Amino acid sequence: MKILVTGGAGFIGANFVHYVYRERADWQITVLDALTYAGNLANLDGLDENRVKFIKGDICDAETIDPLVKGCDAIVHYAAETHVDNSVQSPWPFVQSNVVGTFQLLEAARKYDKRFHHISTDEVYGDLELDDPKKFSESTPYNPSSPYSATKAGSDHLVYAWIRTFGLQATLSNCSNNYGSYQHVEKFIPRQITEILEGRKPKLYGEGKNVRDWIHAEDHSSGVLTILENGKIGETYLIGANGERNNKDVIQLILKLSGKDIDDFDHINDRPGHDLRYAIDSTKLRQELGWTPKYTDFEQGLKDTIEWYKQNEAWWKPQKADTEAKYREMAK
Ligand code: NAD
Ligand code: TYD
Repeated sequence: MKILVTGGAGFIGANFVHYVYRERADWQITVLDALTYAGNLANLDGLDENRVKFIKGDICDAETIDPLVKGCDAIVHYAAETHVDNSVQSPWPFVQSNVVGTFQLLEAARKYDKRFHHISTDEVYGDLELDDPKKFSESTPYNPSSPYSATKAGSDHLVYAWIRTFGLQATLSNCSNNYGSYQHVEKFIPRQITEILEGRKPKLYGEGKNVRDWIHAEDHSSGVLTILENGKIGETYLIGANGERNNKDVIQLILKLSGKDIDDFDHINDRPGHDLRYAIDSTKLRQELGWTPKYTDFEQGLKDTIEWYKQNEAWWKPQKADTEAKYREMAK
C-alpha cells in the first residue's frame, strides 16, 4: 500500500505517519507538506527514508500534486490552516488551503480514481449548550462559526459532492480536539505548558467555561487507519474519546501536574464568536468498525504530554517567542 499523507509534517499528520510506520511495516508513505509556520520536518525525525518520502509542496498547486496522486493508492488529507484565532485575524489563507487545496486534491483523485480520506473536525457542527444531552453525531446539521470551521465545512461539502457526482471512493472523519506530542505552541494545551516552562502564567480566555472533548492524537490516528482500511465508501465517521473538560479545569490540571498553585493563571480577553462546547458521539465508529480509544486517562495523557514538552525544549523554543508576539499583536 502506498499512501500520500498531506500535512504530514504538522501535529496530527506527523502522529499519523509515525503510527502507520509502526503499525504497517510494508506500507510506503509519501508526505506532502508546504512547511508553513505550523509544519516542521523535525516531526518526521527517526523514520527510514526508504519507507517515508518527504516532498515540500503546496496542495493548491495542481502540477505538484498530479504525479504524487497518480503514484499512490490512497490519499489521507490532513493539510490545512488550523488555528481559529489566526482565522479571525486573517481568513484568506484558510480559504486558500482548506477549500482550494482540497478542491485540487479531489480533482487529482478523480482523474486517477484514487481512494481518498478527508480529515475534518467537529467544529463544522457549531457548538452545543453546556447542558445539551445530545452530542454531535454523523447526522448533526452543519453550522460552523469561525472562518476556520467554515472553510473546513466547505471542504467537507466538496468531498460529499465529489462522492455523489463523480463516484469518488472517499470517506470522511470529523474528530474532536487533539492533544499530544508535536502540537504547535499556539494551541491551548502546549501554550499553557510552555508558558509555565518559561516562568509565566497560563492564559485562560474569558471565564474558561468552554468545553472541549479531548482525544489523544494517537487515538485519532488509530481511528483514521481503521476507516481507511475498513470504512464504507461514501460514509462519515465521528472520532471521539469521551474526553469533555472545560478550559479552566484543564489549565488547573496542567498547573497541578507542573507542581504549581492551581489558581496561578491569568484571565485574558475572550475570542470573538468563541464556541461554547464540543462533544462527540463516536458510537458509529465503535459499533460498525470496532474501534476503541486507548488513551482514556486524560490526566495520564496530559502528564506524558507535559513531560514531552519538558524533554523537547529545542523543538518548541524556536516557535515560542514569535507565537507570543503574534498573540500580543492580536490583543491590540
Ligand atoms: P497543524 O496546523 O499542526 O498542521 C497542518 C500542516 O499542514 C502543517 O504541517 C502545514 O505545513 C501543512 N499545510 C498547511 N497548508 C498547506 C498547503 N496549502 N499545502 C501543503 N501543506 C499545508 O494542524 P493539525 O492540528 O495537525 O491538524 C491537521 C488536520 O486535522 C487539519 O485538517 C485539521 O482541520 C484536522 N483536525 C485538527 C484537530 C485538532 O485538534 N488540532 C481536530 C480535528 C481535526
Ligand atoms: P484551541 O487549542 O485554539 O482549539 P479550538 O479553539 O480549535 O477548540 O483552543 C481550545 C480552547 O482553549 C478554546 O476554547 C479556546 C481556549 N484557549 C484559551 O483559553 N487560552 C489560550 O491561550 C488558547 C490558545 C485557547
